[in-house]
Amino acid sequence: MTNTCVIGLQWGDEGKGKIIDILAKNYDIIVRYQGGGNAGHTLVIDNEKFIFHLIPSGILHPDKVCVIGNGIVFDPSLFLDEIAELSKRNINVNGNLFVSDRAHVVFPYHKKLDLLIEKQKGNSMIGTTGRGIGPCYTDKIARDGIRIAELFHREHFREKLKKTVEEKNRLFVNLYSEEPVSWKDIYEEYSMYADKIYPFVCDTIDLMARAINDEKKILFEGAQGTLLDVDFGTYPYTTSSNAAACGVSSGIGVSPKQIHNIYGVMKAYITRVGSGPFPTEIDGEPGDHVRKRGGEFGATTGRPRRCGWFDTVAVQHSVRISGVDSLIMTKLDVLDDQETIRICTGYRSNKKIYNNFPADLDVLHNCEPVYEEVAGWLEDISKVRNVEDLPDNARNYITTIEDYVGLKIKMISVGPERLQVIRN
Ligand code: GDP
Ligand code: IMO
Ligand code: MG
Repeated sequence: MTNTCVIGLQWGDEGKGKIIDILAKNYDIIVRYQGGGNAGHTLVIDNEKFIFHLIPSGILHPDKVCVIGNGIVFDPSLFLDEIAELSKRNINVNGNLFVSDRAHVVFPYHKKLDLLIEKQKGNSMIGTTGRGIGPCYTDKIARDGIRIAELFHREHFREKLKKTVEEKNRLFVNLYSEEPVSWKDIYEEYSMYADKIYPFVCDTIDLMARAINDEKKILFEGAQGTLLDVDFGTYPYTTSSNAAACGVSSGIGVSPKQIHNIYGVMKAYITRVGSGPFPTEIDGEPGDHVRKRGGEFGATTGRPRRCGWFDTVAVQHSVRISGVDSLIMTKLDVLDDQETIRICTGYRSNKKIYNNFPADLDVLHNCEPVYEEVAGWLEDISKVRNVEDLPDNARNYITTIEDYVGLKIKMISVGPERLQVIRN
């Protein structure tokens, strides 16, 4: 019995969705446990593209069960849109998709607040996805949130929503000079959603406990990446949840002892969407070139992703925090036309070399990366399926990174399609 967790080791968008889809066939249950509509996980199967924000990336396997845990901030309209989109493509989710009754609900006032808070920050804006993630988690921690279970008690929901909206409106009107929102409109809209999501909602603690008892194999699907983790990332330029493996237990309600294996996914380079320090960022045309080749535009917001060289300091930090067992590298094909490839091995700042990822944002902002340069392979590797068939320089790139990070790369992805993968 081996339950596996897949997490991102960089600033998100490492290709976790594609990897989950590939691994899913060996598991019974696929679980999303943190984040929410900010995630955008892309799968490409026979040229057909699927992007999932809330629904686990195992959903295309009809014999698997997919679960959305209590740690998710749940936007019912997004969830219903995703189901409708799947149904248009003849994919039926009835009976194999479940949502925790303890998950917190994202309301329109969370999204409005997300945008207003960002605007107010001016130059120090985080560059959030605008999906209401921060404000919804804020309400959860402040014990002002509304959980899915509460939507089904209409009188209670009505009263609580009315009170909550009155408080939010004090902020909108007095602090932000904005129009108030109508609790009645939200009540009507969300009562309709409640009816529609009801068949999917259950006590996922019980569901998971029974699955573990029956020795079902579980695949935990992380969202975002460790450098966006609220505790371990480049705070405050992070998301509001634990994207490291520590988020599993609190986000689905299983013991940490139930995670037997942890895969860390990383691109062959690194990207970031939104603001915040990025030591190995490639400026100007060379950065634009990687963005174009890698199709580095956000799966959730369409924003251009900032691109940089592979950073072993950052990845080692992520590996340590989650106790990653093996690495998965994606998008190696994107580097096919680079004559020379840089690997960051340390940060130089104030005459000191940092090999540990610093908490101090000043260091991260102002440091100069120390690079090792390796020769590129200048060949199309997108059709390679065995590691022995990779060009020598590509294998050298892989082993150099393995040596720095101290772990084996078990899987290498060389294109967006499900089948474009090399097992090492
Ligand atoms: P996630 O959020 O970690 O699931 O990653 P995203 O879906 O946001 O971004 C990864 C993007 O890269 C998607 O457009 C994928 O289709 C694409 N992709 C995944 N693996 C590869 C790969 O090995 N090569 C190339 N060229 N594209 C890939
Ligand atoms: P996946 O699961 C990349 C980034 C946003 C912003 C910061 C905070 O697809 O890898 P938020 O809306 O969460 O408050 O935004 O986090 N961000 C992501 N970047 N991939 C993601 O998810 C992200 N989810 C959030 O761009 O910088
Ligand atoms: Mg993504």
